[in-house]
Amino acid sequence: LRDRDMKDIKVLITAGPTREAIDPVRYISNHSSGKMGYSLAEAALKRGAEVTLVSGPVSIPCPGGAELISVVSAQQMHSEVMKAYARFDMLIMVAAVADYRCAEISPDKIKKNGDDMTVRLVKNPDIARELGEVKGERLLVGFSAETENLLSNAKAKLEAKNMDMIAANDVSAEGAGFDSDTNIVKLVKRDGCLIELPKMSKRDVSHKILDEAVMLFKKEIKE
Ligand code: C5P
Repeated sequence: LRDRDMKDIKVLITAGPTREAIDPVRYISNHSSGKMGYSLAEAALKRGAEVTLVSGPVSIPCPGGAELISVVSAQQMHSEVMKAYARFDMLIMVAAVADYRCAEISPDKIKKNGDDMTVRLVKNPDIARELGEVKGERLLVGFSAETENLLSNAKAKLEAKNMDMIAANDVSAEGAGFDSDTNIVKLVKRDGCLIELPKMSKRDVSHKILDEAVMLFKKEIKE
């Protein structure tokens, strides 16, 4: 049924963590494995989409047929996405972008001279939020990884970032974490419609997300 229903649709997906350098040997990052974003890429490819992944450092292979743009830091991810987004129809933001980066990156390895050490952090650009401002007719889908107030936080992000749909993800629930092969998500759409999915493989979650995204996209085109 879903066969080729994304033919001629161009999809940009961000995935994985970002790494924010402290010095030449150290960085700040998070537990994102890239599995959710890569699984979405694979599902979209199966449905006939043209897929580009902008990915932070992960240890899983890029699905065959996808274009891969590898990045390390949030600033690099931001610049690649802003360069590329205009030629896409769907923008799916799955990356766990580091909210902050180091104000200064030490050119040399920092020595352990003192009993404590302070690293000053500054805010990274919010890629999804910027896309929300310029997206035009493009469909913008995001993720909301939460450990509390799942739905209210997700809804607030959907509004703030002008998304069409957000997948709310309780990362503290068993079978829904960062490195898991399964996920438990609730899909919140802009019109308030809520779809609560049970625990599923990331592959099945991906297809459910794409079912809704394709429907929203085709509706927008018709209107
Ligand atoms: O605000 P928060 O980081 O929780 O929002 C999560 C959503 O925003 C995800 O879709 C994530 O990929 C995206 N995001 C982004 N750039 C950031 C932070 C988050 O694209 N700097």
